[in-house]
Amino acid sequence: MGDPKLSISDSRTGQKYDIDIRQATVRAMDFRAIREDPEEFGMLVYDPGYTNTASCTSRITFIDGRKGILRYRGYPIEQLAEHCAYTEVAHLLLHGELPTQHELDAWNTEIMENSMLHENIKKFMDGFLYDAHPMGMMVSTVAALSTFYPDAKDIASKSNRYRQQVRLIGKMPTIAAYAYRKSQGYPYAYPDWDLGYSENLIHMLWNGTRRQPKPEQAQVLARALDTLFILHADHEQNCSTSTMRQVGSAHADPYVSLSAAATALYGPLHGGANEAVLTMLEEIGSMERIPEFIRQVKAGERRLMGFGHRVYKNYDPRARIIRRIADQVFEITGRNPKIDLARELERIALDDDYFVKRRLYPNVDFYSGIIYQAMGFAPEMFTVLFAIGRTVGWLAHWEELMNDPEKRIARPRQLYLGPDEQTLTPIEQRLGQAREKVS
Ligand code: ACO
Repeated sequence: MGDPKLSISDSRTGQKYDIDIRQATVRAMDFRAIREDPEEFGMLVYDPGYTNTASCTSRITFIDGRKGILRYRGYPIEQLAEHCAYTEVAHLLLHGELPTQHELDAWNTEIMENSMLHENIKKFMDGFLYDAHPMGMMVSTVAALSTFYPDAKDIASKSNRYRQQVRLIGKMPTIAAYAYRKSQGYPYAYPDWDLGYSENLIHMLWNGTRRQPKPEQAQVLARALDTLFILHADHEQNCSTSTMRQVGSAHADPYVSLSAAATALYGPLHGGANEAVLTMLEEIGSMERIPEFIRQVKAGERRLMGFGHRVYKNYDPRARIIRRIADQVFEITGRNPKIDLARELERIALDDDYFVKRRLYPNVDFYSGIIYQAMGFAPEMFTVLFAIGRTVGWLAHWEELMNDPEKRIARPRQLYLGPDEQTLTPIEQRLGQAREKVS
């Protein structure tokens, strides 16, 4: 048997085509040769939401959504979450391998030395209203960094790209902490280079405030944050990572590209779901109201936020790990009663035909918000924390894109359904039906 082929027969013309199959995948461009008339453009592949389109090759993250498997560079997420610090995993994602102790020490120093923000960022932050959403502040500030580091435009230089990547990993927690302090009316706190990545974040968030945890509590909370960041670090071609690649493909610098990716994450169907879960739990309020809520979901009146996933048609392995972290955090912070509502919702949903048939399971966002709230974060901060962890994933994909010999500017096609050529009517003769025409 020769190379595997997909044989296609076009009933319009009677023509037959043999299309190469590699790794159970065909190249969309091979379909262009299929045409009724030689003058025609050729066959397109229609795929709204890219549900069945591989937009790139990647060596970073593997997901088997049917089996509930997630691996970074081949390492199972369960092992990474249990044994590694976040910066170790960041090294793995960006550099391709886990660091030795010596490499990790140098990597940590490099990241922490890049955690400081230019003083002008404070003035920039001051311009936001007191009730500005921290995610809006974060995406704007990351984009603004592009003006502070114009050298970032030299994306052809590997060493230059690396300088910006370390800057971003170092500065994201500081931006997050500034956004939080601004929203609370607290003075900004500078990073402490002697602390670990998540310990420093806790320091910048709460130092000198009534929420400042005792040192032994800070350690437990830092470990929990580290684990949450590991779970959020990458998830292959999700909406925000695809945005990073899409914007990056136009050779925009990494700050504006990452700001665009974080903006996609902000959406309630993506990283904003953890905030939406909390709002939903608050609205449900008590166990007695769960059945009515489930009825509304099944009637299509609303969604059970934190449930369902484009890729996972099984239990999201990250949700399983997060459930465990919750208990460790509650030992320090006290139990968040919303966990009982969430577990009951999960219990009912996993037993209900509507959810079972559609393979809807809790995703990473179902429990993370409850932990963040127990730690003292307002729901508006949840996606900001997600973005800190995901930064390295976005950057690893951006770096992979920059090295991809098949890289081209991302530019999908469309299936045009609008009117054929029309003749322009002079303005005084137009009937003003534009609104009715656009659906
Ligand atoms: N609650 C109720 N029904 C749901 C839910 C849900 N959370 N998710 C999907 N469904 C139903 C849909 O109504 C649809 O039913 P139908 O076949 O009767 O029409 C079916 O399941 C398939 O749903 P789709 O919307 O086609 O699935 P898709 O893959 O496009 O969407 C998504 C995935 C956006 C995550 C969806 O499940 C959802 O909206 N979930 C809630 C938001 C959420 O938690 N997002 C976080 C995802 S994780 C992350 O981004 C970090």
